[in-house]
Amino acid sequence: MSKFMEWVDARFPATKMWEDHLSKYYAPKNFNFFYFFGSLALLILVNQLLTGIWLTMSYNPSAEGAFASVEYIMRDVEYGWILRYLHSTGASAFFVVVYLHMFRGLLYGSYQKPRELVWIFGMLIYLALMAEAFMGYLLPWGQMSYWGAQVIISLFGAIPVIGADLTEWIRGDYLISGITLNRFFALHVIALPVVLLGLVVLHILALHEVGSNNPDGVDIKKTKDANGIPLDGIPFHPYYTVKDIVGVVVFLFVFCAVVFFFPEMGGYFLEKPNFEEANALKTPEHIAPVWYFTPYYAILRAVPDKLFGVIAMGAAIAVLFVLPWLDRSPVKSMRYKGWMSKIWLVIFCISFVILGVLGVLSPTPGRTLLSQVCTILYFAYFLLMPFYTRMEKTKPVPERVTG
Ligand code: HEM
Repeated sequence: MSKFMEWVDARFPATKMWEDHLSKYYAPKNFNFFYFFGSLALLILVNQLLTGIWLTMSYNPSAEGAFASVEYIMRDVEYGWILRYLHSTGASAFFVVVYLHMFRGLLYGSYQKPRELVWIFGMLIYLALMAEAFMGYLLPWGQMSYWGAQVIISLFGAIPVIGADLTEWIRGDYLISGITLNRFFALHVIALPVVLLGLVVLHILALHEVGSNNPDGVDIKKTKDANGIPLDGIPFHPYYTVKDIVGVVVFLFVFCAVVFFFPEMGGYFLEKPNFEEANALKTPEHIAPVWYFTPYYAILRAVPDKLFGVIAMGAAIAVLFVLPWLDRSPVKSMRYKGWMSKIWLVIFCISFVILGVLGVLSPTPGRTLLSQVCTILYFAYFLLMPFYTRMEKTKPVPERVTG
């Protein structure tokens, strides 16, 4: 084996890569619960790619055949039902995991210097993931696929001057049709997965260049032993590979429970109108995007003007990109930040969840008012950050990681 590896290493840096990224990558020894979600996101990515490839083998990307081919996968293709449920549940699980992964970033200031690019690549992943999920949702060609896409694509129509031409260009037709389905299929099965994979590689390369943050926000590279190894670091392999397996097992328990017992998740993972074939002449009574988009949908509806609603929705995502430059705190982790940062993070999370709930429900005057309040709080968290992070009194950060 070692002779073989010598031969390979003389031609390709296999051992070097293994050491740099696993056996000699020193990660802080105090990773907690919130550090499981990066590896879980990787696991789901692999699940989506594999189940997606097999679904594509039996799926028919045409307005005439798409809906029936999904029924065919569910009923006639051997194990087709499990492939589809793994893929549809995987989509929602992806967002659950990614939201928790991003929350960890907010909690421990993982986006702060020197990890700005890790965060930016993460945000690009988030954008690509949203595009991937949106386009995938059109493919079953159900009522919600059709009308959900109709609502979202028509938003581009609010853009002055070019709006009408732009929506036509995106659809490739005067209304959503088989042409739209074909291009979404191409983007969903090849273009966006390639972009996603590339971004994930860049995300991890950027992280390994600077090293992982940790719940204390302490820089472990500051205290090294005589051999230059961080005193608070442990090799990623075997320590965190084994620890991550524990996370994977717990995750798979929950994931399989959903796949086998509640694949529709009460209409949140697979919406009820999507069991009916797309019909351009029949608008469903209540159109709502899938749960992971609803906070932004609620922001869109909170603004009375369509164009400003679209701008607010775009700004809600764009503001996350500049987060590393909004946080002026001298400390990273919430453990050592002051009470204002803590309260604002709580307000932000509650507002985000309320917006998510409101985005599912049909609007009433009371709900619209609540969504307006939550939209203001959502933006206030970011826009006031340069002020409260500078004003508040922080606690001293220890030299070494705690616990
Ligand atoms: C497909 C989606 C993603 C995958 C596979 C992924 C993967 C990973 C992995 C494996 C790690 C190292 C382990 C860990 O710290 O948990 C990591 C760290 C990180 N990720 Fe992601 N990630 C994804 C999306 C995102 C998104 C959407 C963001 C934020 C916008 C983000 C921000 C970060 C940050 C800031 C770190 C460093 C955390 C620290 O050192 O404390 N990631 N990611």
